[in-house]
Amino acid sequence: MGLQTPPRSTKIIAIMNNKGGPGKTSTATNLAVTLALSGKRVLAIDSDQQANSTEVLANGKKYYSLFGPTICDLYNDPRLDISSVIIPAVAGDTEIPNLDLIPSDPSFEKIIEQSLTRSHREKILSRHLQKVRNEYDYIIIDCAPGLNIATGNAIYIADHVLVPVDGGSFSLSGLEIMLDYMDEISEQDYAQFSVFRNNYNAANKKINSFIDRSLTEHPRIAPRMLETRIRTDQAIVQSQVSCVPLYYYQKSAMALNDYRKLAREIEALFEKEVA
Ligand SMILES: Nc1ncnc2c1ncn2[C@@H]1O[C@H](COP(=O)(O)OP(=O)(O)O)[C@@H](O)[C@H]1O
Ligand SMILES: [Mg+2]
Repeated sequence: MGLQTPPRSTKIIAIMNNKGGPGKTSTATNLAVTLALSGKRVLAIDSDQQANSTEVLANGKKYYSLFGPTICDLYNDPRLDISSVIIPAVAGDTEIPNLDLIPSDPSFEKIIEQSLTRSHREKILSRHLQKVRNEYDYIIIDCAPGLNIATGNAIYIADHVLVPVDGGSFSLSGLEIMLDYMDEISEQDYAQFSVFRNNYNAANKKINSFIDRSLTEHPRIAPRMLETRIRTDQAIVQSQVSCVPLYYYQKSAMALNDYRKLAREIEALFEKEVA
């Protein structure tokens, strides 16, 4: 008998919040890099027309359509070969081992609008990904703020939705709207999700206790709170402005420990699901 490796059980994680700014992109890019550096095969998908993940993982090329195919082409053409849209992620000029990227482009906003009238419009990404998903251990989707068709596609295919909550403009009702939308679209009865605090500054005692209380008293969210918090770290902002993932910007950054902890906690969640 020939050597047979069992198929990978790919985990698809969508990083989502209907607001802008709580940390979707920083989490998506840095979690993807953390998992890739630990030896997992990872595909990062930029599903946001702001293309911030693309900037970080493709050396500042926000208008990636100028350089090659993007997620726009996947949504435009159901028959497109998805492998033509997948590129190796880079930090500056250096290839990041184990990490691939499907880039976005600001024109994605218009493409999504045009997809509104398509039948099976929530399954566009899913159909494409079937062809390559087995090549990866993790697929990480950075979603746009708001609940558009591309976010619907991410929910439809995700095994897990990861929701960053920051101290800025925290809104419980906003979260509830998003959870209802997730339940509506997800194939399962209830979408699998977890919530974690990002941009956590222990000095902000009042804000922290207000947010923590709101979350831990909420019947749906309380059991879904992760232990990991990503601390406030200016190196995160600086790395994003410099268009490189945090690890490649500053290997001593404290928040890297938090991203590693987040990766471990999420891996443990999946192991528990399997058991
Ligand atoms: N833990 C953190 N500490 C400091 N700044 C952060 C942290 N997380 C995110 N930021 C900064 O906040 C801004 C918004 O974060 P981002 O990840 O782009 O949010 P989103 O994708 O949800 O809009 C960015 O400038 C980012 O660098
Ligand atoms: Mg973003």
